[in-house]
Amino acid sequence: MNQPRDSRYEDWRPVLEKVRDQLVRHIQAYNRKEMETHGENAYEHLLYRIKGTASMKEKCRRKGLPFNARSALHAIRDAIGLRIVCRFLSDIDRNLRLLRAIPGCTVIQEKDYVRNVKPNGYRSYHLILRLEEPFPDVEGNDPGIFYAEVQLRTIAMDSWASLEHELKYKRNIRNPELIGQELKRCADELAACDLSMETIRKLIRESGTVDPGKESGTHEDFTCRR
Ligand code: GTP
Ligand code: MG
Repeated sequence: MNQPRDSRYEDWRPVLEKVRDQLVRHIQAYNRKEMETHGENAYEHLLYRIKGTASMKEKCRRKGLPFNARSALHAIRDAIGLRIVCRFLSDIDRNLRLLRAIPGCTVIQEKDYVRNVKPNGYRSYHLILRLEEPFPDVEGNDPGIFYAEVQLRTIAMDSWASLEHELKYKRNIRNPELIGQELKRCADELAACDLSMETIRKLIRESGTVDPGKESGTHEDFTCRR
């Protein structure tokens, strides 16, 4: 845990993993609690990563920062990245509430691309979390301050974003304007489906209780890691 203040980004990887794992454990714990109390998971699945060295180096360059641990862990705040993929739109707000209640965790920035959709059709809710940890950070503070970016989206938003992301990296695409327009149309159609799914869920909920014996249906045949 004793990192010199002029250390390299790579040297902090084990510390970042520790911070990330702690946050992941909190999220998995609230998910289990939601299941116990409401019979429903808070999210469909949870993904996480530590930003790779090449990608962090590129981001420092883009922001005009020297590539070192202080830039990467303090000035830049997405070395730790989590993505919470939800089944329904309203689950995004539910997870937001649950994230805010995590001890030692403060939301310091929010970008609501669900209500303020990006011109290309991208939808997602982005948060930067400030995490207080019982060990020193890159600035020498103890307790240490670390940051993580959390992206909250529905399954539909997530599938759209992964396709759009893939296209961004394809070279020599013919008809980029047409593809862009089609992608935007697709994003809007998926958003309309998300709204309909939300309404259908509400109708199902209002229409009565579930027979406990039949609750899991055919899903019990599948194992899902959460
Ligand atoms: P960065 O300096 O890149 O972090 O810019 P920023 O902090 O202004 O970015 P923002 O919070 O808007 O988005 C950060 C992350 O969201 C990206 O790294 C992507 O994972 C995702 N993202 C944002 N916009 C798009 C988009 O148009 N398409 C896709 N597929 N992903 C996006
Ligand atoms: Mg960012």
